[in-house]
Amino acid sequence: MKNRQTRNLLPILALASLFIKISGSNSVHPVLTGPDKAYLGSRAVYRCTAPGSSPPVRYELVSSDGALMASSVDPQGDQPATLGMKVSEASAGAYHCRATAGGNTGVSNSITLSVVIPPLQTTVTSEPFPPVLYEGSRLVLSCGVDRGSHLSYTWFFNRTEVDGDIEDVFNVTGNKLVVEEVTPEHAGSYYCIASTSVQDIQRFSSSSDIQVTVKVYVSKPEISFSVFREGKSYRANVTCWSSRGSPPANFSLLLDEAEVYSVRATQSLVGWFVVEVVPGLDMGLAHCQVKTELQELKSEPVTLEVVPVGGDVSVNVEYLYTSASRLAAALLTCKVSRGTFPLVSWLLDDSVLPSLPHSALINEGQTLILTQLGPEESGSYRCRARDSYDSSGPWVESEAQLVQVTEARMTTTEKISISFCCFLLLVLVVCSVCVLKMFNHDRAHPQTAPVNSDDLSLSELTSRAEDKKTESPHIDFDVHNQVYW
Ligand SMILES: *[C@@H]1O[C@H](CO)[C@@H](O)[C@H](O)[C@H]1NC(C)=O
Ligand SMILES: *[C@@H]1O[C@H](CO)[C@@H](O)[C@H](O)[C@H]1NC(C)=O
Ligand SMILES: *[C@@H]1O[C@H](CO)[C@@H](O)[C@H](O)[C@H]1NC(C)=O
Ligand SMILES: *[C@@H]1O[C@H](CO)[C@@H](O)[C@H](O)[C@H]1NC(C)=O
Repeated sequence: MKNRQTRNLLPILALASLFIKISGSNSVHPVLTGPDKAYLGSRAVYRCTAPGSSPPVRYELVSSDGALMASSVDPQGDQPATLGMKVSEASAGAYHCRATAGGNTGVSNSITLSVVIPPLQTTVTSEPFPPVLYEGSRLVLSCGVDRGSHLSYTWFFNRTEVDGDIEDVFNVTGNKLVVEEVTPEHAGSYYCIASTSVQDIQRFSSSSDIQVTVKVYVSKPEISFSVFREGKSYRANVTCWSSRGSPPANFSLLLDEAEVYSVRATQSLVGWFVVEVVPGLDMGLAHCQVKTELQELKSEPVTLEVVPVGGDVSVNVEYLYTSASRLAAALLTCKVSRGTFPLVSWLLDDSVLPSLPHSALINEGQTLILTQLGPEESGSYRCRARDSYDSSGPWVESEAQLVQVTEARMTTTEKISISFCCFLLLVLVVCSVCVLKMFNHDRAHPQTAPVNSDDLSLSELTSRAEDKKTESPHIDFDVHNQVYW
């Protein structure tokens, strides 16, 4: 019974072992590893193994169209084969490995190879070209190469890489750097670097610099004038300027709407014109005009009239007290009823004011501040005025005004506290001058009288004095000194 069973099994076992033998000798399963990118002109090296195949094993690197690229034989059957080929432009495509062992052949996975061409001759092109454009317009810079593939681009602005911090100032996509609305801060030099990378080997090509210029629109021009004497006649120097804008521009002077002079400003946006004037005579309405290739703007008008100093001159005295009702300062203002360019000077007891240690002049000398009132400062004050443009002209003098210390002697404590108050006032003055300077930065006046506004002043005193200033006729021309940003 047992014997018969064994006899029945035998053919099955034989068949099975045969099957195993056939399938074993047929199963050549090669595996291909290697690069999917390689530089043009380099050698691409692949490895092929067919584990478990009986030696000798023949390996072949074959392209997708069947061309044999490289081959090698492994006599032992335990070494992976190294199959290399020189990369040409035609090398791009899919590759697989074919392994033959014991009369059986197997085909591996396939690897697609890209041929990387290193960048050559990188240049930046701009739109518009040349890269000179007005603020608010669109700028596109493109990084181009004569030859190259698989490229990455890096931009540099003023030699600093455009990334992270300054990326939101620029839009960088692909090989382009775009600024939708340029501002003056985009002006500067730009260059780009094109690069490729294959297995940690990088190749670069850098462009040369391109200089981007951003032009600023000119602001409405401003006008002012000063007067000087030349021999027996008088001339006005009419100055026109724009506080903002890129030169060049043409400035012209219009008198009663007719252009009389024109100058070309190439370095800074200022032009000046000298015209003859007769003091006391209205010479007409003057305007400035600024013209660029894109703009034409006219200033506010100014009446070209020089009123000689005349009428009444008077001194107005104001006393300022501390919160404890102590006299802290005196504010003397010289009122000149007529005159476009008055020059004011002060007299104390009929001699020209010596420079008192606790005094200051503001408003072009028209306001005198006495920050301490001692015997030295007491006396009769007068002011006088003449035309600043005529040093031989007559002075018009005011009546005398008595300024006196009326208080009784002060105690030491009072002295100390008043000194402290004065110190505080001084600090205030310095601060207010700074603030005023910031605001008045771009103002310009017809420079005629000595300017002492940088000296001592109080914020309160200054504002009071400024109020007075507008009453005086000589600043008619300041009204137009607006700053446009
Ligand atoms: C960048 O692009 C976005 C969307 O296109 C745009 O809103 C932004 O203004 C651009 N920035 C610059 C600096 O051009
Ligand atoms: C870039 O450089 C230019 C000079 O080439 C300079 O005028 C400009 O202020 C610089 N801009 C910045 C943002 O650094
Ligand atoms: C006219 O004034 C400008 C400044 O505003 C000055 O630079 C120029 O020299 C003056 N011209 C004359 C002739 O005084
Ligand atoms: C400015 O003046 C020059 C001559 O001085 C002239 O050639 C030029 O065309 C003028 N430019 C404009 C924008 O008017």
